Order: sequence, then C-alpha cells, then structure tokens
Amino acid sequence: MSSSSQRPLITVVGASSKQGRSVATALLASGRYRVRALSRRADSAPMRHLAEQGAEIVTVALELGRQAEFTAAMRGSHGAFLMTPPTTPMPPPGQPELALGRELADAACAAGVQHVVWSGLENVEERTGGCKWAPHFTEKARVEAHIRTLSLRSTFIYLAFFYSNFLEYYVPRRGADGSLTFAIYLPPDVPMPFVDPLTAAGPAVLEIFDHPEQYAGKALPVIGEILTARQMVDTFARVAGQKAQYASAYSRDALLRHFPAFGTSEYVVRELVGMVEYAVEYGYYAPQRDLEWSRKIDPGALTWAQFLKRSEWYGQPMSYGA
Ligand SMILES: NC(=O)c1ccc[n+]([C@@H]2O[C@H](COP(=O)([O-])OP(=O)(O)OC[C@H]3O[C@@H](n4cnc5c(N)ncnc54)[C@H](OP(=O)(O)O)[C@@H]3O)[C@@H](O)[C@H]2O)c1
Repeated sequence: MSSSSQRPLITVVGASSKQGRSVATALLASGRYRVRALSRRADSAPMRHLAEQGAEIVTVALELGRQAEFTAAMRGSHGAFLMTPPTTPMPPPGQPELALGRELADAACAAGVQHVVWSGLENVEERTGGCKWAPHFTEKARVEAHIRTLSLRSTFIYLAFFYSNFLEYYVPRRGADGSLTFAIYLPPDVPMPFVDPLTAAGPAVLEIFDHPEQYAGKALPVIGEILTARQMVDTFARVAGQKAQYASAYSRDALLRHFPAFGTSEYVVRELVGMVEYAVEYGYYAPQRDLEWSRKIDPGALTWAQFLKRSEWYGQPMSYGA
C-alpha cells in the first residue's frame, strides 16, 4: 500500500446514497485511493461509517446553485464520482437533473479534476424519437454529452433497475391469506436488467479508476442479473419461503390502482409510465452496450436470489439509512 499522500484522492458526490456509499467503500477498501465523501450531513449512519473507514467528510448539499461549493469541495482531487439524487421531474422545459449535473461537471473541471465517472443512463428522447418521456434518463444523457465537451477524462456507468426499488418504493402488499402481491411496473415475461447499487457500483468505479486509459470515453452498463418480473416473484417465494404472486402495475391505470400516492404528481406518473414503456419497447440499454462487462470485472455481482439472501428481506419496507 502506498503512503497516504501518494494515493490519488477521489471525491465521491452523494456519498451516503446507495451508489455513492458503494463507490466510497470500494475505493477505500482497495487501499489505493483516498476518498473525500460529500453529503448534506456528517452525522448519518452511512457517513459515520465512511468516516470510520477513513473517508474525509465534507458537508455540501447535492442541490442546484452550489457550483462554487462543489468546486471548493473537489479541489485537489484526481478523480470524482458524480451522480444526482432521485429528482422529481419538472414539466418541460424544466430540466433539474441536467442543471445539477452540469454544475457538478463544471465544478470538477474548474477544480482541476482529471477523471470524472458520471452515473448516467441512455438518452430516451433520442432513442425513441421523442415518443417516450423519461427525463431522469435523458437529462443524465445530456449531462454526459456536456461532460464529453470538457477537457478532462470521462467514463460513464449506467446502472440497471435497482433490486432495492421493491424494498423502498414498490413494496409488495400482504393479503388476508398471508401471501404477498408484488405489483410490478413491468409486464410479467419481459427480461430486464437489475442490479444492487450498494454492492455493484463500487467495483465498477474502482475498475475504471484503476485502468483510466482503457475506459476513457466508455459508457458501461452495471448489471447484477437479467430476469423477468415473474422470475423475480418466483425467486422471492423460493428464497423467502413465502407465497407470493405477480400483479401488473405496467399501465398507467394499474400503477395508480396499486400505488395511488404516485398520483399526487402528474409528472411523476408520466415519467414512470414513459420509463417502463421505453424499457419494454426499446430495451433498457441501447443495442451496442456490453451487458457482460460489469459481471466480468465483478464476478461477485449479486443475482436477485443472492441479494434477497444477503439483505434478509421478507417483504417489509426497508430504508437504506441515509
Ligand atoms: N431506482 C432505480 O432503479 C435507478 C436505476 C438507475 C439509476 N437510478 C438513479 O440513481 C440515482 C439515485 O441513486 P441512489 O438510489 O443510490 O440514491 P439514494 O440512495 O436515494 O441517495 C440519494 C442521496 O442524495 C441525497 N439526497 C436525497 N435527496 C436529496 C435532495 N432532495 N437534495 C439533496 N440531496 C438529496 C442524500 O444524501 P445526504 O442526505 O447524505 O446528502 C441521499 O443519500 C438517481 O439519479 C436515479 O435516477 C435509479
């Protein structure tokens, strides 16, 4: 292990998030990097844990209008992992995620960062000729396009759907007979890529910073397993030893019937429907992407069954403690 001052410093934005936490932990555990972890609060459980692992904690909120703070926070860093938090979509022409992503990227450039890894997604607007509206994909892709114009090295990771969506946002409901109904935003038999961001983002970003030239300009999917909604439910039933069934929340009506709370924001509903229709009709990833890469460089990437066993999840709502 090199002495502390010789190890490159990597700033991790959103360090308490599932992805950010994974990245910071993997970089620190490698012994090859120092980590500066950015968060709104230093006292949350994930941030305290990162501090115990040796991260330098800097308090700055991941929100628009803080470019000068981002620049100051990234100064002296060799690299930066940049991401955006879950963002409520705005009616066009508002692009809140694009605006935040640009500020982060410009701050990295101004701070003299040499290599940025951006957590992005495909450009749905471009891939569908404007037929589907999924701003949290397209705005990330626009940030990527902006980063590519900057004079720094850049690499892009595209995380699959999170397994944790079912623990945090689309929690299954227990019926009177004790069985669980998974209302899933996908049709039953269409294979889709899924991932555990908490364990998969880190190994991908570590591999990229370890081989910067090899990955310059690359856009890389990060996947744990490709499986159908029905396979997810059947696997849950087997692993958790519970009776469980699939119900469709794929259409707008079905989504709102199962999750009426989404109906409080028309733009959230439009985005959710646009996103899943995009993924089903066009594919979550563009055809040229390498769907094997992340599982090659990280053979321990969790399948859904492994994720269920590791998280000891039996259908209850779970929070990730940020
Ligand atoms: N869900 C999916 O299937 C999926 C798939 C691919 C990509 N994504 C993308 O992944 C990103 C989210 O990643 P994640 O799930 O790892 O994040 P997360 O666990 O939800 O954490 C987000 C972090 O951002 C901060 N944060 C949350 N709300 C904020 C706000 N309103 N203002 C400022 N900071 C806020 C919090 O950190 P502090 O309080 O510590 O500051 C929090 O720890 C989103 O951009 C999403 O589009 C999601």
